[in-house]
Amino acid sequence: MENQNIQWFPGHMTKTKRKIQSSLKLIDVVVEILDARIPISSSNPDLSELISSKPKLVLLNKCDKANRAATNMWVSYYQKQGIRAIPVDCKSGRGLNKFVPAVREILSDKFEAQKAKGIKNPILRVMIVGIPNVGKSSFINRISKQTRAKVEDRPGVTRGNQWYTISSDLEMLDTPGVLWPKFDDNQVGLHLAFTGAIKDNILDIELLAMNFLELMQSHPTEEFLQRFKLKAEDIVDLEPYDALELIGRKRGMLISGGEIDTERAANLIFDEYRDGKFGLITLEYPEEG
Ligand code: G4P
Repeated sequence: MENQNIQWFPGHMTKTKRKIQSSLKLIDVVVEILDARIPISSSNPDLSELISSKPKLVLLNKCDKANRAATNMWVSYYQKQGIRAIPVDCKSGRGLNKFVPAVREILSDKFEAQKAKGIKNPILRVMIVGIPNVGKSSFINRISKQTRAKVEDRPGVTRGNQWYTISSDLEMLDTPGVLWPKFDDNQVGLHLAFTGAIKDNILDIELLAMNFLELMQSHPTEEFLQRFKLKAEDIVDLEPYDALELIGRKRGMLISGGEIDTERAANLIFDEYRDGKFGLITLEYPEEG
């Protein structure tokens, strides 16, 4: 997606904050989309402050690529904080049937309050927020009915805002809030890069692969070891660069003079990791885990 090239600078962040704040006046619940593999790194450091009193629903997206037990741990983690979190896969649609009932549950008091005011069929509204590449457009495409709701008769709605109908009683703002990650944290940067949320061509792919291999060396998955016909003890004590060379050698990635093409090996590692070939790997666990 083009979004992932967004350069976050203070002016841009202020503008985005203001845009989200003004949209908040129109909506009843904020839906934050996170990457289930990296719920910390894919979250926005300022969101709680930004949305203050609005209720929030968390979607742990790309759960098809995350470790199932870890995703369940995240669901409990949020639950303990009074936040409903739902694992979803916006590519296949898995888990999305839980979305509307969850929003209705979160907003049940509000629905009742509206009905008490004499509004027969109240319609409440949601807004989607998330960092680039987390799956906002995929979610919006999956969940929205094809027809857009009319805006003309909605008092207080800025011209230009469009609403998607998602059920008889819920509408969704068509433009999601694009948030920034906590990019001054090195680990956050690495995890975003590993999962492909940051484009590879702006990074040193070999260095990135060495960082990823350090993880695989200390916590190898069966799938990873099998793919390269390795044993855990073959790699555990290697320097990450040597591990990268070993992977390249295993795949016959040689360049002239018998040297290993480590850049090709690095690219291969990320292609296979992101394709789920190393198993379902969650990179971040809740603190108590
Ligand atoms: P954004 O609007 O937040 O920027 O994200 P977008 O929906 O464009 O999704 C970014 C990428 O993540 C897309 O891949 C999309 O298909 C993929 N994606 C979104 N949700 C899921 C999910 O639940 N599971 C998996 N496995 N992938 C998901 P892409 O590489 O841009 O396109 P493509 O691979 O689909 O062709």
